[in-house]
Amino acid sequence: MKQVAIALIAIFGLVAVAMAAQGPEVISIDKVKKAMAPIEFQHHKHQERVEGKCTTCHHTEKEGETALKACSECHAAAAAEAPSYKDAMHKRCQGCHKEQNASGKSAPVKCNECHKK
Ligand code: HEC
Ligand code: HEC
Ligand code: HEC
Ligand code: HEC
Repeated sequence: MKQVAIALIAIFGLVAVAMAAQGPEVISIDKVKKAMAPIEFQHHKHQERVEGKCTTCHHTEKEGETALKACSECHAAAAAEAPSYKDAMHKRCQGCHKEQNASGKSAPVKCNECHKK
């Protein structure tokens, strides 16, 4: 019994670590938020869409790394080396959406489809 209990605790522990590493399920992206409404970003749905290839967005990490940095750590309002947070988001998000739509998907590309009130 004791061994079973310990084994179960170990399994739940691993699952918890794996879930934490996925980051939040939904992220309200509001780092800049001046003129536009924040974006309700389905983080986990997008992880499925890239078939777990985190580096599609987390481009400075190696595939399989678990401690992923927030984009905002490098993409600040007026960062010297990296594009601004807004430009980085527009490029990565809209870039893929346009590609996807060219192959029949309907990902948001209009302003108010992402910046919902
Ligand atoms: C479609 C783009 C995209 C994909 C794919 C993606 N993420 Fe993210 N992730 C984001 C964005 C955007 C944020 C919010 C970061 C910010 O605002 O600075 C984020 C935040 C996170 C955070 C929180 C970072 C922090 O410190 O706040 C973790 C952890 C994370 N992602 C893990 C993952 C993992 C693991 C995968 C792959 C299984 C993944 N992400 C795939 C876009 C993505
Ligand atoms: C450790 C720092 C760092 C983190 C974290 C980071 N970036 Fe970047 N990013 C950079 C730098 C530096 C550049 C400019 C050089 C380059 O293009 O690689 C850049 C460039 C970009 C570009 C422009 C690439 C191009 O093709 O012109 C996009 C888009 C981008 N980042 C999106 C993101 C997103 C989305 C996240 C979070 C999921 C993120 N970045 C996290 C440092 C970072
Ligand atoms: C690798 C490609 C890819 C990237 C990168 C990407 N998306 Fe998407 N996004 C999609 C696809 C595919 C859909 C769903 C299209 C469909 O259902 O036909 C989608 C749908 C959405 C939706 C509609 C709600 C939903 O999730 O179903 C929002 C909002 C959205 N994306 C925001 C973002 C934001 C914000 C970013 C950048 C942080 C981003 N996306 C980056 C591919 C991408
Ligand atoms: C695919 C989703 C997406 C689409 C489509 C989109 N944006 Fe954004 N935009 C974002 C994300 C994500 C941010 C970062 C939000 C934040 O951190 O506050 C952003 C930030 C901004 C910002 C800076 C933040 C602020 O409140 O001032 C402005 C301005 C902006 N977008 C304007 C537009 C306009 C205008 C359009 C249409 C031409 C548009 N966006 C379309 C995702 C999108």
